Order: sequence, then structure tokens, then C-alpha cells
Amino acid sequence: MSSRLVDRDARAVWHPYTQMLTRPAPLPIVRGEGVYLYTEDGRKLLDGTSSWWVNIHGHSHPRLNEALGAQARRLEHVVFANCTHEPAVELAERLLGVLPHGLTRVFYSDNGSTAVEVAMKLACQYWGNRGQGNRRTFVALHHAYHGDTVGAMSASGDSLFTRPFASMLFGVARVHPPYCYRCPIGLERTTCHIECLGDTAPASLDTLGAVLESHAGSVAAVIVEPMLQGAGGMIVWPAEYLAGVRRLCDRHGLLMIADEVLTGFGRTGRMFACNHADVTPDIICLSKAITGGYLPLGATAVTEPVYEAFLSEDRTRTFFHGHSFTANPLSCAVAIESLRLFAETDIIGKVQALEGWMRSGLEAFRSLDLVGDVRVIGGVGIVELVSDRATKSAGGYLDTLGPRLTQACLDRGLLLRPLGNIVYLMPPYVITESETAWAIEQMHAALESVA
Ligand SMILES: Cc1ncc(COP(=O)(O)O)c(C=O)c1O
Repeated sequence: MSSRLVDRDARAVWHPYTQMLTRPAPLPIVRGEGVYLYTEDGRKLLDGTSSWWVNIHGHSHPRLNEALGAQARRLEHVVFANCTHEPAVELAERLLGVLPHGLTRVFYSDNGSTAVEVAMKLACQYWGNRGQGNRRTFVALHHAYHGDTVGAMSASGDSLFTRPFASMLFGVARVHPPYCYRCPIGLERTTCHIECLGDTAPASLDTLGAVLESHAGSVAAVIVEPMLQGAGGMIVWPAEYLAGVRRLCDRHGLLMIADEVLTGFGRTGRMFACNHADVTPDIICLSKAITGGYLPLGATAVTEPVYEAFLSEDRTRTFFHGHSFTANPLSCAVAIESLRLFAETDIIGKVQALEGWMRSGLEAFRSLDLVGDVRVIGGVGIVELVSDRATKSAGGYLDTLGPRLTQACLDRGLLLRPLGNIVYLMPPYVITESETAWAIEQMHAALESVA
């Protein structure tokens, strides 16, 4: 029997988001350093998607390695329901120091989906504890992706990812995001006034303004991925829409949940995407880059009024939620070290520089026939492919261009994972200008080769 990693994998492992019958063999990764991954068969690949959007400081970072080792020698894990520990407390203190002003409490879990699940359960019980249990509906956006647990899937847009589980999901009210390339009301960003929000003049279309106008009394919370909707199509928002979400939640007295699992910790060129519009959500969900991409950790932070709604002599008002690995000390210790790196170096400035390199590098893609749109925010450069530029028709997630492009990039030493017709570069922030130019060159060549 072959002892090669891919052969052993083929006999024993089931991979996520993977059709195991038709998949190409997985890449046998044996080592990571900086922006590069190294395979068992000697290839060096640039990690163009930050290992599912988590890595920011580069692989195998000496400072994070040291923090992890030191914590492992002290305390690897302990129950967090009736114990506490230094890494969890220090991390909460540090997070509250960098989060949008007004968030005052951190609740830990262990991944992005659970950070969202916690947020939704908190919002639900918040209203129950305040005697308004009729406020049960969540308002979410088309093209949203909030994770793979049942609540997070329910809030996610109807898609290939959620359809097989439709019978398990609960209904949410769905509104249009500001998808400017495919504007829901046919306007142009250069001249529009964010009419898709429906803030001032409720449109017949399902805008947030219109839906809240008619249903606000039954709504618990509005949940959004601020500034960048990720897995649903890498849709970049105008900051005005985000400001409008906050304004509408305030007007109707609703909770605003910001899912910053992808956008948090600098990915959009600000520490948090909410900073682009200077808004504080009532609840914020964090994960992925919180540990620099090292270890699973989820955190859901809330404002004082949300926290206070759970304080009571009546023990039924307790938030009955927790996971075995809540506030894992190893994860917290690495997350603290990651925040130290943010405090010591101008990492946000670096992401902004990366944004500039991507903007100028990706501009040339507009001349390719199969490119419909190019958009960039922070450390994310996105190319939306279409089969017809005039009608903007496109194949979606199952577009065969995706796997062909992935292979063409791999052949050139670049690891990408297009979302069907949405191709994007989201490298660790430590990528250099010349490495960025090189990666963009490979994307361009790969696109030309599959066109
Ligand atoms: C915005 C957003 N929320 C939640 C999640 C779920 O995170 P996880 O995969 O860690 O469960 C993701 C994952 O991509 C995400 O992008």
C-alpha cells in the first residue's frame, strides 16, 4: 500500500466542500513559512487565500510559535464555565481596546459559525429577557454567508451551500445588499444615493428600509457582513450602506449584528470593517484572523445594554450556551501575541499599501473579455468573471472555470480557490509588493490560458 500522504488521505479522509468522487488529489502540504506553503513533492506555493482567509502574519511566525509553545507549557486547556485564566482575560481586555467604541463584553466560542450562532442566540434571548419575545425575526441579506451551523445557515443567503438543508433552517426576512456591479435597482454607483437601502423612500424592492418599515415590530436583529460579503460573491459595499444599516436599526430600536469573521483584524484596510463607517454594532462576531490564523477561536462581543439584559436574580435569564473549547488558552495566547504585533507595527498601513498594489495590478484585467468587474478592498482583490459582458450572465459557484483556473494557477505556483466565477486574491498581509505583482501576473496568465 502506498504511504504517500495523498494515497493515505484518499483511503481515510473526507474533506470539506469537496466532491470526493471527482476531486483532484489534495495538495500534501508539509510546511509553511511566510506567504508560502511547501508540498511533500517539493513544490513551493504562494498562499493566495490566506488558508481560508485566516492567516495574516504569514505561516509559522516565530513570535506566534513562541507564544503558543510558552502557553502549552503552562496551561493547555481548562473548562471556562467556572474557571478563568490569564490569556482569556487579557485577550478580552485587548479586544475591547481595539474594537469599535461601546463594545464592552466578550463571549468566547471556537470558530466563525459559533461566533455567529452565539450572536443570534444572544439577540433572541435579549428580547425574551426584556419581555419582548415576539421579536424573533432576523433580517439578513441576499448573498450572505454566515457559516455552516443551523442558525448561521438560516441567515445565509439561499444557495448551493444551504439548499440541501432547507428543511432544517428557519425563515428570515431577506433584503438586497448593495451589489453595485449587479445593482438591484439598476443604478450606477457613481451617481446613485444608495437607493438600495430604501432608507428615505422605501422601494417596492425588498430593501432594508422597506422591510423594517413593515416588520420592525417582530424583528430581533439585522445581521450583516459589513463592507465585504465574502463567500456569497466577494461583494464590496459603499460605506454609506453600512452607515445606513446602523441608522435604520437605531430608528426602529433593533439590534445590529456585524459578522466580522472575515473582515475583522485588518482585512478590509481598517482594523474592523465597521470602522469604515464609524459605526458600533450591538453585537460583533470575530474569528479567523483573531489568532493570526493559527488556531480555532470565536469571540462575540456585545454592548453593555445587551449584556445587562442577561443580569438577573432569575437564573432562567442566564445565557445557556458554551462549548468544550470555549476560550482555549492556547488560542487566546496566540491571539494576544497577534494583537501585540498589531500594536508594534503598522499592519493596517501595510494592508492599505497592499490595497494600492492590487488596485493598480488588477486594473489590466478589465480588458479581458471574460472579466465583468474588478473590485478591491483592503487586502482583497476580486475579479468577477462573466460569460457575456453585456448581460453579465455568469456560471456561479459551479462554473467550471473555477477548477480550471485553480489548476492553471497551481501550475504556476499560486494557490487560489475561486468561488466559481469569482476569482480573488487574499494573501497574508506580509506579502511584498513584488510577490503581489507576481501573483497578479500568474492570475492574469491563468485567466488568459482558460479563456
Ligand atoms: C463572514 C463569515 N461568517 C462566518 C463564517 C464561518 O466561519 P467558520 O468557517 O470558522 O465556521 C465565515 C467563513 O468563511 C465567514 O466568512
